[in-house]
Amino acid sequence: MKLDPRPSVIEERLKGVKRIIAVTGWKGGIGKSVTACTLALLLAKKGYRTGLFDLDFAGASDHIILGAKGLFPKEEKGLEPPVYEGIKFMSVVFFSENRAVPLRGADVSDAIIEMLAITQWGELDFLVLDMPPGINDAALDIMRFARKAEVLAVTTPSIIARDVLERSLALYRSLATPVLGIVENMARGAAAGGVCARLRFDPALEAALGRPAALAKTAFSRDLAAALKKLGLD
Ligand SMILES: Nc1ncnc2c1ncn2[C@@H]1O[C@H](COP(=O)(O)OP(=O)(O)OP(=O)(O)O)[C@@H](O)[C@H]1O
Ligand SMILES: [Mg+2]
Repeated sequence: MKLDPRPSVIEERLKGVKRIIAVTGWKGGIGKSVTACTLALLLAKKGYRTGLFDLDFAGASDHIILGAKGLFPKEEKGLEPPVYEGIKFMSVVFFSENRAVPLRGADVSDAIIEMLAITQWGELDFLVLDMPPGINDAALDIMRFARKAEVLAVTTPSIIARDVLERSLALYRSLATPVLGIVENMARGAAAGGVCARLRFDPALEAALGRPAALAKTAFSRDLAAALKKLGLD
Protein backbone atom coordinates (compact mmCIF):
# COMPACT_ATOMS: atom_id res chain seq x y z
CA MET A 1 0.00 0.00 0.00
CA LYS A 2 1.31 3.45 -0.93
CA LEU A 3 1.20 5.92 1.91
CA ASP A 4 0.07 9.39 0.92
CA PRO A 5 1.47 12.06 3.26
CA ARG A 6 -0.54 14.88 1.65
CA PRO A 7 -3.74 14.61 3.72
CA SER A 8 -1.84 15.12 6.96
CA VAL A 9 0.29 17.92 5.45
CA ILE A 10 -2.85 19.71 4.27
CA GLU A 11 -4.57 19.15 7.59
CA GLU A 12 -1.57 20.75 9.32
CA ARG A 13 -1.61 23.70 6.87
CA LEU A 14 -5.31 24.32 7.45
CA LYS A 15 -5.10 23.87 11.22
CA GLY A 16 -5.39 27.59 11.93
CA VAL A 17 -8.42 28.02 9.66
CA LYS A 18 -11.65 27.94 11.60
CA ARG A 19 -14.08 27.49 8.72
CA ILE A 20 -13.69 26.59 5.07
CA ILE A 21 -16.52 27.61 2.76
CA ALA A 22 -16.48 25.91 -0.64
CA VAL A 23 -18.59 27.90 -3.10
CA THR A 24 -19.76 25.30 -5.60
CA GLY A 25 -22.47 24.96 -8.18
CA TRP A 26 -21.51 22.36 -10.74
CA LYS A 27 -23.01 24.39 -13.58
CA GLY A 28 -20.83 26.95 -15.31
CA GLY A 29 -21.44 30.68 -15.40
CA ILE A 30 -24.04 30.82 -12.65
CA GLY A 31 -22.19 33.27 -10.40
CA LYS A 32 -19.97 31.11 -8.18
CA SER A 33 -16.98 33.40 -8.56
CA VAL A 34 -18.80 36.69 -7.98
CA THR A 35 -20.46 35.09 -4.95
CA ALA A 36 -17.13 33.78 -3.58
CA CYS A 37 -15.35 37.13 -4.08
CA THR A 38 -18.22 39.21 -2.69
CA LEU A 39 -18.51 36.87 0.28
CA ALA A 40 -14.78 37.22 1.01
CA LEU A 41 -15.01 41.02 0.77
CA LEU A 42 -18.03 41.12 3.10
CA LEU A 43 -16.40 38.84 5.69
CA ALA A 44 -13.14 40.81 5.62
CA LYS A 45 -15.05 44.07 6.02
CA LYS A 46 -16.75 42.65 9.09
CA GLY A 47 -13.32 42.16 10.60
CA TYR A 48 -13.04 38.42 10.08
CA ARG A 49 -9.61 37.12 9.12
CA THR A 50 -10.47 35.96 5.62
CA GLY A 51 -8.78 34.03 2.84
CA LEU A 52 -9.90 33.46 -0.73
CA PHE A 53 -8.57 30.71 -2.96
CA ASP A 54 -9.47 30.62 -6.65
CA LEU A 55 -9.17 26.98 -7.63
CA ASP A 56 -10.55 27.20 -11.15
CA PHE A 57 -7.63 26.15 -13.34
CA ALA A 58 -9.48 26.56 -16.60
CA GLY A 59 -11.09 29.88 -15.83
CA ALA A 60 -9.58 31.62 -12.81
CA SER A 61 -11.47 34.89 -12.52
CA ASP A 62 -11.33 36.17 -8.94
CA HIS A 63 -8.35 38.42 -9.72
CA ILE A 64 -10.47 40.10 -12.41
CA ILE A 65 -13.56 40.41 -10.20
CA LEU A 66 -11.45 41.94 -7.41
CA GLY A 67 -9.21 43.98 -9.71
CA ALA A 68 -6.18 42.40 -8.03
CA LYS A 69 -3.18 43.14 -10.21
CA GLY A 70 0.55 42.52 -9.82
CA LEU A 71 0.20 40.23 -6.82
CA PHE A 72 2.34 37.20 -6.15
CA PRO A 73 2.76 34.98 -3.10
CA LYS A 74 5.90 35.25 -1.03
CA GLU A 75 8.01 32.14 -0.57
CA GLU A 76 8.48 31.57 3.12
CA LYS A 77 8.47 27.93 4.19
CA GLY A 78 5.79 27.40 1.58
CA LEU A 79 3.76 30.12 -0.10
CA GLU A 80 2.39 33.11 1.75
CA PRO A 81 -0.67 34.57 0.02
CA PRO A 82 -0.55 38.29 -0.78
CA VAL A 83 -3.08 40.42 1.09
CA TYR A 84 -5.53 42.39 -1.02
CA GLU A 85 -8.49 44.38 0.36
CA GLY A 86 -7.87 42.69 3.71
CA ILE A 87 -8.14 39.23 2.12
CA LYS A 88 -5.35 36.66 1.91
CA PHE A 89 -5.68 35.86 -1.74
CA MET A 90 -4.41 32.83 -3.60
CA SER A 91 -5.17 31.94 -7.17
CA VAL A 92 -4.04 29.31 -9.61
CA VAL A 93 -3.57 32.23 -12.00
CA PHE A 94 -0.37 33.16 -10.14
CA PHE A 95 1.14 30.01 -11.58
CA SER A 96 -0.45 29.95 -15.01
CA GLU A 97 0.42 33.55 -15.91
CA ASN A 98 -2.91 33.94 -17.63
CA ARG A 99 -2.13 31.25 -20.17
CA ALA A 100 -4.54 28.41 -20.72
CA VAL A 101 -3.28 25.57 -18.56
CA PRO A 102 -3.22 22.37 -20.60
CA LEU A 103 -3.38 20.01 -17.65
CA ARG A 104 -5.21 16.72 -17.66
CA GLY A 105 -7.64 15.79 -14.90
CA ALA A 106 -5.19 14.00 -12.62
CA ASP A 107 -2.58 16.73 -13.12
CA VAL A 108 -5.08 19.46 -12.20
CA SER A 109 -5.93 17.51 -9.10
CA ASP A 110 -2.25 17.09 -8.21
CA ALA A 111 -1.53 20.78 -8.78
CA ILE A 112 -4.43 21.82 -6.54
CA ILE A 113 -3.44 19.39 -3.81
CA GLU A 114 0.12 20.67 -4.05
CA MET A 115 -1.11 24.25 -3.63
CA LEU A 116 -3.25 23.27 -0.65
CA ALA A 117 -0.20 21.58 0.84
CA ILE A 118 2.19 24.53 0.43
CA THR A 119 0.02 27.59 1.11
CA GLN A 120 0.53 29.18 4.52
CA TRP A 121 -2.84 30.63 5.50
CA GLY A 122 -1.93 31.16 9.12
CA GLU A 123 -4.83 31.99 11.42
CA LEU A 124 -8.10 32.59 9.57
CA ASP A 125 -11.74 32.78 10.59
CA PHE A 126 -12.90 31.94 7.06
CA LEU A 127 -11.27 30.51 3.97
CA VAL A 128 -13.51 30.85 0.92
CA LEU A 129 -12.80 28.40 -1.90
CA ASP A 130 -13.98 29.37 -5.37
CA MET A 131 -14.59 25.97 -6.88
CA PRO A 132 -14.38 25.14 -10.57
CA PRO A 133 -17.61 24.23 -12.38
CA GLY A 134 -18.48 20.57 -12.60
CA ILE A 135 -17.65 17.80 -10.26
CA ASN A 136 -14.43 16.28 -11.43
CA ASP A 137 -11.52 14.62 -9.69
CA ALA A 138 -10.10 17.96 -8.67
CA ALA A 139 -13.33 19.09 -7.01
CA LEU A 140 -13.72 15.76 -5.23
CA ASP A 141 -10.11 15.86 -4.07
CA ILE A 142 -10.55 19.35 -2.65
CA MET A 143 -13.51 18.15 -0.60
CA ARG A 144 -11.53 15.08 0.47
CA PHE A 145 -8.40 16.97 1.49
CA ALA A 146 -9.98 20.08 2.99
CA ARG A 147 -11.88 17.98 5.49
CA LYS A 148 -13.41 20.94 7.31
CA ALA A 149 -15.05 22.28 4.15
CA GLU A 150 -18.70 23.27 4.21
CA VAL A 151 -20.54 23.78 0.94
CA LEU A 152 -22.27 26.95 -0.17
CA ALA A 153 -24.22 25.79 -3.19
CA VAL A 154 -25.00 28.34 -5.89
CA THR A 155 -27.86 27.75 -8.27
CA THR A 156 -30.19 29.69 -10.56
CA PRO A 157 -33.97 29.58 -10.96
CA SER A 158 -33.73 27.26 -14.00
CA ILE A 159 -35.04 23.72 -13.66
CA ILE A 160 -31.82 22.60 -15.35
CA ALA A 161 -29.66 24.17 -12.64
CA ARG A 162 -32.06 22.84 -10.03
CA ASP A 163 -31.70 19.28 -11.25
CA VAL A 164 -27.91 19.51 -11.19
CA LEU A 165 -28.12 21.05 -7.72
CA GLU A 166 -30.17 18.14 -6.39
CA ARG A 167 -27.61 15.68 -7.70
CA SER A 168 -24.76 17.64 -6.13
CA LEU A 169 -26.55 17.76 -2.78
CA ALA A 170 -27.03 13.99 -2.88
CA LEU A 171 -23.30 13.59 -3.45
CA TYR A 172 -22.39 15.90 -0.56
CA ARG A 173 -24.76 13.95 1.66
CA SER A 174 -23.03 10.72 0.70
CA LEU A 175 -19.64 12.31 1.46
CA ALA A 176 -21.00 13.66 4.77
CA THR A 177 -19.94 17.17 3.68
CA PRO A 178 -22.08 19.76 5.48
CA VAL A 179 -24.11 22.06 3.23
CA LEU A 180 -24.31 25.54 4.71
CA GLY A 181 -27.04 26.66 2.41
CA ILE A 182 -28.30 27.19 -1.10
CA VAL A 183 -27.86 30.55 -2.79
CA GLU A 184 -30.23 31.26 -5.65
CA ASN A 185 -28.50 33.69 -7.97
CA MET A 186 -30.22 35.84 -10.59
CA ALA A 187 -33.34 35.14 -8.57
CA ARG A 188 -36.71 36.07 -9.96
CA GLY A 189 -40.29 35.11 -9.18
CA ALA A 190 -41.07 32.94 -6.18
CA ALA A 191 -38.25 31.40 -4.18
CA ALA A 192 -37.64 27.72 -4.72
CA GLY A 193 -37.69 25.43 -1.70
CA GLY A 194 -34.62 25.18 0.49
CA VAL A 195 -33.11 28.46 -0.70
CA CYS A 196 -31.34 30.48 2.04
CA ALA A 197 -30.26 33.48 0.02
CA ARG A 198 -31.68 35.12 -3.07
CA LEU A 199 -29.38 37.34 -5.09
CA ARG A 200 -31.18 39.42 -7.68
CA PHE A 201 -29.97 39.86 -11.22
CA ASP A 202 -28.12 43.15 -10.94
CA PRO A 203 -27.46 45.01 -14.20
CA ALA A 204 -24.90 47.21 -12.38
CA LEU A 205 -22.73 44.26 -11.37
CA GLU A 206 -20.72 43.98 -14.57
CA ALA A 207 -19.56 47.60 -14.42
CA ALA A 208 -18.47 47.15 -10.79
CA LEU A 209 -16.22 44.17 -11.51
CA GLY A 210 -12.57 44.94 -10.78
CA ARG A 211 -13.46 47.65 -8.25
CA PRO A 212 -14.09 46.30 -4.74
CA ALA A 213 -15.52 49.61 -3.46
CA ALA A 214 -18.06 49.70 -6.32
CA LEU A 215 -18.79 46.00 -5.89
CA ALA A 216 -19.66 46.59 -2.23
CA LYS A 217 -22.33 49.10 -3.27
CA THR A 218 -24.16 46.79 -5.71
CA ALA A 219 -27.56 45.29 -5.00
CA PHE A 220 -25.87 41.91 -5.50
CA SER A 221 -23.49 42.56 -2.59
CA ARG A 222 -26.29 43.98 -0.44
CA ASP A 223 -28.43 40.89 -1.07
CA LEU A 224 -25.56 38.62 -0.05
CA ALA A 225 -24.81 40.74 3.03
CA ALA A 226 -28.45 40.45 4.08
CA ALA A 227 -28.25 36.66 3.81
CA LEU A 228 -25.09 36.14 5.87
CA LYS A 229 -26.95 35.63 9.11
CA LYS A 230 -29.27 33.04 7.58
CA LEU A 231 -26.23 31.22 6.23
CA GLY A 232 -24.63 31.19 9.65
CA LEU A 233 -21.77 33.41 8.43
CA ASP A 234 -22.32 36.48 10.57
N1 LIG B 1 -26.77 38.37 -9.88
C1 LIG B 1 -26.10 38.75 -10.98
N2 LIG B 1 -26.44 39.87 -11.64
C2 LIG B 1 -25.78 40.26 -12.76
N3 LIG B 1 -24.75 39.58 -13.31
C3 LIG B 1 -24.35 38.46 -12.70
C4 LIG B 1 -25.00 37.98 -11.51
N4 LIG B 1 -24.37 36.84 -11.12
C5 LIG B 1 -23.39 36.63 -12.01
N5 LIG B 1 -23.37 37.57 -12.97
C6 LIG B 1 -22.44 37.68 -14.10
O1 LIG B 1 -22.41 36.42 -14.75
C7 LIG B 1 -21.10 36.12 -15.19
C8 LIG B 1 -20.66 34.78 -14.65
O2 LIG B 1 -20.44 34.89 -13.25
P1 LIG B 1 -19.28 34.06 -12.54
O3 LIG B 1 -18.02 34.15 -13.31
O4 LIG B 1 -19.26 34.46 -11.12
O5 LIG B 1 -19.89 32.58 -12.70
P2 LIG B 1 -19.20 31.20 -12.34
O6 LIG B 1 -20.29 30.29 -11.90
O7 LIG B 1 -18.06 31.41 -11.42
O8 LIG B 1 -18.63 30.77 -13.76
P3 LIG B 1 -17.60 29.57 -14.07
O9 LIG B 1 -18.41 28.33 -14.04
O10 LIG B 1 -17.08 29.89 -15.41
O11 LIG B 1 -16.55 29.60 -12.99
C9 LIG B 1 -20.22 37.28 -14.78
O12 LIG B 1 -20.05 38.17 -15.84
C10 LIG B 1 -21.01 37.92 -13.64
O13 LIG B 1 -20.72 39.29 -13.52
MG1 LIG C 1 -16.01 30.84 -11.57
